[in-house]
Amino acid sequence: MNTKETKFKAEISSVLGTDPERIHLYWKGRVALYALLKAAGIKNGDEVIIPGFTCVVVPNAVLYSGAMPVYVDIQRTSLNPSFADIRAAVTPKTRAIILQNTFGLSTELDLITKWAKSNNILTFEDCTHGFGGLYQGKPNGTFCDAAFFSTQWNKPFSTGIGGFSAVFNDTILSELIEVDKSLIHPRWDEDALLLLLIISRKFLLSSVTYYFLRDLYRLLSKFNLTIGSSSGTELTDPIMPASYFKAMGKTQVNAGSKEIASLDCVLALRKKNAAVYTQKLVQHGKFHVSPELHQNHSFLKYPILVSDKKKFNESAEKDRIELGDWFLSPIHPIETNFEKWHLSLENIPVASFISSHIVDLPTDTKHPEHVLSFLDKNMDIIV
Ligand SMILES: Cc1ncc(COP(=O)(O)O)c(C=O)c1O
Repeated sequence: MNTKETKFKAEISSVLGTDPERIHLYWKGRVALYALLKAAGIKNGDEVIIPGFTCVVVPNAVLYSGAMPVYVDIQRTSLNPSFADIRAAVTPKTRAIILQNTFGLSTELDLITKWAKSNNILTFEDCTHGFGGLYQGKPNGTFCDAAFFSTQWNKPFSTGIGGFSAVFNDTILSELIEVDKSLIHPRWDEDALLLLLIISRKFLLSSVTYYFLRDLYRLLSKFNLTIGSSSGTELTDPIMPASYFKAMGKTQVNAGSKEIASLDCVLALRKKNAAVYTQKLVQHGKFHVSPELHQNHSFLKYPILVSDKKKFNESAEKDRIELGDWFLSPIHPIETNFEKWHLSLENIPVASFISSHIVDLPTDTKHPEHVLSFLDKNMDIIV
């Protein structure tokens, strides 16, 4: 391992309060999840419980391992499944439960992890949204047997694309060292293209260019013409793309070390902005993230519900508000052929409703007053 990787792992582990040896770096967060499932011996015939409100790459990784994803509907308040609903979904085939930190918020982790342990079920924390935040006084990502994190563009800190895992179960950790031996390494041109994307984003992205660049990036990614958040086949079929199992490259390690240094400042800004959004939504009696559900939410995004997504999006684009679209569907961004992912929308009515009404306000903006006046103008569309 080179010294920059060692330094980056030490920087990550100090936020989590663990040893650098427990941190493993990957090309994307989903690769970290797949590696964990393999290291845990998850295989054909097993079931893995996941939230019915996630990114499609999560059920993809489960299906690549040979296991079956079992989707559990979410609660409207927490945007995560409840302990009671998770417990009801457990069968003798359940080997693992994936507990998601959604936009920075975790739910009932203490109860679920304790119960799972006493029933010999592994737990994995999908902490792709939550790095740097706390839940019940403990760092997000330190509650389960292992956690995986994302450092993709819009995550708590970014390496362009990227991800890592933190492993607390020693059996999984020693297996993971074996599993990682088959990782491939990014080619020099992939490393160079990613560097170009990171530099372009830094200098070109602004509220004026946001929608144009976002749509251009998504289009180029769809045709595999750039290093996308997802490559074509991941969004059409749950079949593992070639070169999926890839390690983190040099560009990502260098970018990560720089970005993680400003994590605390960004987190403070996110919380400050979230507090003013909550105040505004409370004033108008609208859906908002309930303070009773968290002591220390890290607010990667601020979810709100709207009655007409199209109208709200158009209005945001016109007012140059950098609105997010997570999650467009219960397995974002898939909008058809859910059966390929073994998902029946009838089983997850709350997640289906939420995904057709949710939009996310930016929490890292330096101009929250701009977002507030946009909310005022569009209050009639907000639920
Ligand atoms: C909930 C959730 N899980 C997993 C992932 C996958 O992370 P990555 O893109 O780094 O593979 C994402 C990506 O945004 C996500 O939102």
